[in-house]
Amino acid sequence: MQTKDVTKVTRCRICGASGLKKFLSLGPLPTPNGYLTTNQLKQHEPEYPLDIGRCKKCGLVQLTQIVRPDIMFTNYKYIPSASKTMVKHFDEMASEIINEFRLTKKELVIDIGSNDGTLLKSFKKRGMRVLGIDPAENLAKIATKEGVPTIPEFFTSKLAKKVVKKYGKAKVVTGTNVVAHIANLVDLFKGVELLLANDGVFVAEFPYLVDLLDNVEFDTIYQEHLSYFSIKPLIYLMKRSGLHISDVRKQDVHGGSIRVFVKKGSAKKMADSVKGFLALEESKNIYKDKTYKEFADSVEEKKNQLSNLLRILKKSNYKIVGYGASARGNILLNYFGITNKTLDYIVDSTPYKQGLFTPGHHISIVSESKILKDMPDYVLLLAWNFKDEILKKQNAYRIKGGKFILIVPDVEII
Ligand code: TMP
Ligand code: ZN
Repeated sequence: MQTKDVTKVTRCRICGASGLKKFLSLGPLPTPNGYLTTNQLKQHEPEYPLDIGRCKKCGLVQLTQIVRPDIMFTNYKYIPSASKTMVKHFDEMASEIINEFRLTKKELVIDIGSNDGTLLKSFKKRGMRVLGIDPAENLAKIATKEGVPTIPEFFTSKLAKKVVKKYGKAKVVTGTNVVAHIANLVDLFKGVELLLANDGVFVAEFPYLVDLLDNVEFDTIYQEHLSYFSIKPLIYLMKRSGLHISDVRKQDVHGGSIRVFVKKGSAKKMADSVKGFLALEESKNIYKDKTYKEFADSVEEKKNQLSNLLRILKKSNYKIVGYGASARGNILLNYFGITNKTLDYIVDSTPYKQGLFTPGHHISIVSESKILKDMPDYVLLLAWNFKDEILKKQNAYRIKGGKFILIVPDVEII
């Protein structure tokens, strides 16, 4: 029997406390990676709640209703390799980990949520043995074909046991932009503990709550992201899991992320970097209610600013298009009510997305080369997390007089 499409979260997924305090509701909205083919446009498009709250006990910010994972993840259109920035970022990450942890050739590296194998390819080319785990069957197939063996399943502690039996323990386990996708965090870290060799390290990366709040990156909130991490609740989770955080480092991808290093056992003493992040979190008041009230107000302010600007531009008959049919872009367009009456189309570098339509407002997705051919008056930068790469790529458009509308941190025309 199929379980329900949506489950209400009654207890915090880290500490188990009840009474999550909701501070923002963006839904109901379609899932942000639910791109549609022409044939699907006439079919009913399901919408799902998007409510976010905070646990008063451990501080974890989390969705208070969650969508069944197979609805969102088994046929996945997002790939990091559509962005040069991410390919470079993951290549540097692999190189740094190999050097820092002195990995020798043939050492096993396992990536949870390995997507199309971008990160593991960087380990493989440096001589490591690699194994990917990802429930996106379409992507697991491609990665395996390209030399990154990938198990097309959701990661659980049960799967971890099978993996260890077949492949042995891993010196390095990675998980980039995936921990937030997993509902059962206790089981995830139980699985990580099983996979890791005694001197092994788990390296996780995800957007950092402090940046999300500081820059009003509300469009990072979507049904796939069940948790929005800061260090304090993670420490709580690590203690529960017989692990500890050995280091935390800031990363500038995806609007501000952190890379967290996790090792087995308890910490003899708290690392300075961990102390530093805890102090930052306190100084930013991220464990106080008022911060979330202000954040919700800022989202409405941004909505008004951008809607007003687009209305004025459309009144003057300017042609406006979008850049980056990203999940976050879909949340912003659907929540702000920006439709295909405002944006003629959206360009995107992902081959799997071109020819499809965005969930919700059904805006057509085309290749990036259309911008220079078409010379629209304005381009709304939906993939603001790749601003530098995109502005560089579209330099010719800008030289010819084309303008970009920025959304983050502020609404601005450049
Ligand atoms: P993300 O915010 O979920 O990472 O998605 C970013 C989207 O932007 C993804 O669909 C790829 C697209 N993109 C472009 O179209 N051109 C680019 O140059 C870059 C870097 C990304
Ligand atoms: Zn909690």
